[in-house]
Amino acid sequence: MKRIFFLLLMILSILGLIVCKEKKPIPELEKFVVKNVIHPSNNPYNQEKVELGKTLYFDSRLSINQDVNCATCHNSPSIADGFPRTKIHNPAPSLTNVALYKDVFKDPEASELEDIVKEKVHAKLMFQHEAKLAQRLAAIQGYKELFEKAFGTPEITGERIVLALSTFQRTIVSKNSNFDRFVMGEETALTPAQIRGWDVFQNKAKCIQCHQGPNFSDSELHTTGLAGIKDKVRTPTLRDVTKKKTFMHNGIFGSIEDTVNHFAEGGHSKAVHDPMLRPAELSEQDKKDLIEFLKALEGEPIQLEIPSIPKA
Ligand code: HEC
Ligand code: HEC
Repeated sequence: MKRIFFLLLMILSILGLIVCKEKKPIPELEKFVVKNVIHPSNNPYNQEKVELGKTLYFDSRLSINQDVNCATCHNSPSIADGFPRTKIHNPAPSLTNVALYKDVFKDPEASELEDIVKEKVHAKLMFQHEAKLAQRLAAIQGYKELFEKAFGTPEITGERIVLALSTFQRTIVSKNSNFDRFVMGEETALTPAQIRGWDVFQNKAKCIQCHQGPNFSDSELHTTGLAGIKDKVRTPTLRDVTKKKTFMHNGIFGSIEDTVNHFAEGGHSKAVHDPMLRPAELSEQDKKDLIEFLKALEGEPIQLEIPSIPKA
C-alpha cells in the first residue's frame, strides 16, 4: 500500500516537472518592450543619470516640508494604492511604462515627460522654488558627486533635477511577460485559456481598438462609460494591470472582474456614450479567458530598491 503511494507520488512529481516547463531564454526578449522607449536627444540616457534620478525620486528633501517624495504617491507597482484618497482627489497613476505613452499625459498641456516632471517638482506638495531647491541639494556633498557623474560637472540646477528624474522614469518598464515570450515565438508561453482570451480581446470584444501596440494603449483620450464622468481619460497600459487593487482613474472598481464586465457591457447605459464602446455579448467563459489573458501581461516584478540617499 505504502509502495503504491510512493510510486504514485513519483509519477505525479515527474508529471509535475513536465508541466512546470522551464522558461527558455530568448536573447531579444528583454528588448521587446524596452526598444520602444525613446530617450530624447536633449536628455540622453546614461546609467549614472538613472541612479541620480532614482535617488531624487526617493528623497523627501525635494518637498518643502521634507515629508513627501515622488515615491510616496507613485510607489511601484500598484501606485494607485500608495496614497490615501482623501488627501489627493485622484489616486496617482502608475508610472510603469510612462515613457511609452505618446505625448499624452494626464495633463494635456504637457507633451514631454520632462514637462510633466517639471510641473510635479513645482507642485504644491513638492518644492515650488527651483533655485531654493537647487541650493538645498547643493549643500549636500554626496549630491555634487552624483550630479558630476551624471552630467560631467557638479552644478545642481532645477533643469538637471528634472532631466535626471525623467531619465529614471523612462527605465520603469514592465517587461518579459509571458505574452511577450509568446509574441517572440514561444508558443507554449500562453495557456490555452490565455490564447482564447487574446482572441476575444482582439475580435469579439475589440478591446484592441484602444488598448493597442506594445503598451496596450493608443495614448488617446476616451470616455469609458463611467456614470457621472464626462471628462476623457487617456487609455492606460494593461501591462501589470492584474497586479492592481483598484481600477480606473478614480479607483471605482475593486476587482478586475468588475472592470472587465464594465467594458464588456459597453459601459453604463446612462453614461456619456462612446462609439467605440459597445456591448460585446461575451459568455462567462469569454470573460474568464479575457482575464486569464490580462494575467499574461504581467511582467517580471519591478524591483525599485530604495537607494542610499546622500546625507546632509
Ligand atoms: C501627493 C502625491 C504626488 C506626489 C508627491 C507626486 N505625484 Fe506625480 N502625480 C500624482 C497624481 C495624482 C497624478 C495624476 C494627476 C495629475 O497629473 O495631476 C500624477 C501624475 C504624474 C505624472 C504623469 C503620469 C501620466 O501617466 O500622465 C508624472 C510623470 C508624475 N506624476 C511624476 C511625479 C514625480 C517625478 C514626482 C516627484 C517630483 C511626483 N510625481 C510626485 C500625485 C503625486
Ligand atoms: C474606447 C476605448 C476603450 C475600449 C474599447 C476599451 N478600453 Fe479599457 N480603458 C480605456 C480607458 C480610457 C481606460 C481608463 C478609464 C479610467 O481610468 O477611468 C480604460 C481602462 C481599462 C482598465 C483599467 C485599467 C487601470 O489601470 O485601472 C481595464 C482592466 C481595461 N480598460 C480593460 C479593457 C477590456 C478588457 C476591454 C475590452 C472588453 C477594454 N478595456 C476596452 C479605453 C478603452
